Amino acid sequence: MTAFTLIQITDTHLLADPTAQLLGCNPWQTLQDCLRQVALHQPDGVLLTGDLADQGEPAAYDALVAAVSTIGCPIYWLPGNHDDVAQLQAQVGAQPQWYGLQAVDLGAWRLLLLNSVLPQAKWGEGYLAADQLYWLRQELANCRDRPTLVALHHHPVPTGIDWVDQMPVQNAVDLLAILADFAQVRVVVFGHIHHELEEERLLTPGAAPISFYGCPSTCLQVSPPQPVPNVDLPGFRLLYLNADWSHQTHVQRVQTQVVAYD
Ligand SMILES: [Fe+2]
Repeated sequence: MTAFTLIQITDTHLLADPTAQLLGCNPWQTLQDCLRQVALHQPDGVLLTGDLADQGEPAAYDALVAAVSTIGCPIYWLPGNHDDVAQLQAQVGAQPQWYGLQAVDLGAWRLLLLNSVLPQAKWGEGYLAADQLYWLRQELANCRDRPTLVALHHHPVPTGIDWVDQMPVQNAVDLLAILADFAQVRVVVFGHIHHELEEERLLTPGAAPISFYGCPSTCLQVSPPQPVPNVDLPGFRLLYLNADWSHQTHVQRVQTQVVAYD
C-alpha cells in the first residue's frame, strides 16, 4: 500500500468580503495561492485545522467550500476559536466529501478530529470538554491496531512564545494523559500558532514517541523563537502516512502576490 498524502491547511481567516485586508494581508488571495500549490501534490485528503473564517461569517464559509472543493479529494475539518462552530457545521457538514469532528480512515491510518474551542474564551484559549475527551478515549480503545493521527486547533505543547502560550488548549495535560495510554498514536497536528513547529515527545517509556506538528497559516505568520527560512510566507504542511506506521512531513511555503484593492 502506498502512502496516504494528507495536506494540512490552517488558519485561513477568510473574510466575507474577498477584497478585504487582514492586517495588510488578503486572506482570500493567499489561500488561492496556497491551493494552487496544494493541487500540484494531488493529495489523498486535505485537513483544515480551524480559524477557517476570521469572524465566522456565512459568506466566508461559502468561499472556503468553493475554493477547497476544487482540490477534488476528501476534506477533513475542525473549528478554531475564530469560527462560529454552529455556522461552520451547518454550512460544511452537508457538503459531499467534507468530514468534520469524527473518526475517519486515511489509508492504513486513522484520523481523529477534536473540537478544542472554548465558548466565551477570553483571548482565544482552548479547552477539550469532557465529551471530547471521553470520545477520544473510546475511539482509541476501540481501534488499537492502526496508526493514529489526532488533530485539534489549539496547541497542546508550548511554543516558547509568551503571548501564544497564554492561549493553548488549557487542559493539555488531560489530552496527553489519554494519548499516553494508547501506543498507536503517532502524530498530533494543530493550527492556531501561525508558525511551523515540530516536537517529538516520549509519553510512555518503551512506546514509540509521538510527533507534535504546528503549521503556518495560509495568511498571517507569527515569528517563532528560532529563525527559519521564509518565516513570513504563508504555507501548508504535507504528511505522508505510510502503511508501515512510519511517516514523513515537511512544510511548504508559498510565494504570494500582495494584491492591493484600494
Ligand atoms: Fe488563527
